[in-house]
Amino acid sequence: MNRREFVKCIGAVAGAAAMHGIAFANEGDKKMKCAVVYFSWSGNTRFAAETIAKKAGAALFEIKAETPYNSDFNKCCDEAKPECYGKKLRPIKPIEGLDLAKYDVVFVGTPDWWGTMAPPVRTWVTLNKDALKGKTVGIFQTHGGGGMERVGKEFAEVVGDAAKILPPKAFPGASVKSATKALEAFVTDRLAVK
Ligand SMILES: Cc1cc2nc3c(=O)[nH]c(=O)nc-3n(C[C@H](O)[C@H](O)[C@H](O)COP(=O)(O)O)c2cc1C
Repeated sequence: MNRREFVKCIGAVAGAAAMHGIAFANEGDKKMKCAVVYFSWSGNTRFAAETIAKKAGAALFEIKAETPYNSDFNKCCDEAKPECYGKKLRPIKPIEGLDLAKYDVVFVGTPDWWGTMAPPVRTWVTLNKDALKGKTVGIFQTHGGGGMERVGKEFAEVVGDAAKILPPKAFPGASVKSATKALEAFVTDRLAVK
């Protein structure tokens, strides 16, 4: 093999690696259908969810507690604390129009509450873990300084191994509205098949 043939050969290998090694989930004929499902109390996770949905071309669905949490921060914290530590399921409203069977990828967003997912999210995941079987699930959360804490781990425990869980990502809630690029990069990265 001369130098020219060698370079050509390397080019072909690199091209094949690009196709098979790191390919976009949306590549080719099959466009991955995405949904974003989230709970938000004060709007940070909602902003993240909206941004992620726009970037992913995803349908957006909000989880709502049957009985809303108190609108006062301290009272909400007091109300949520025993639920979070007790891994309790807070009843939620049915989500109109959400049929998980239609989606390949489901992004799920939650605020970090007492180190874990907000109870309405725990409820939604618990109720839907069978419907999430075989799907790719991307978890994101917003927090007040604690970082990921137990959110990703406990979420994965609830979903079980039947879904493909992508690495979870935490965004600081206070600056999330100026983190559009980071949120978009999260989508691009998680939709890349590695
Ligand atoms: C009940 C409650 C508990 C919280 N617990 C934590 C926590 O343990 N760690 C943390 O970093 N932030 C905590 N926060 C802050 C929120 O995670 C943060 O403000 C988040 O961005 C709020 O998202 P949201 O606006 O979508 O509700 C808590 C907030 C509330 C209301």
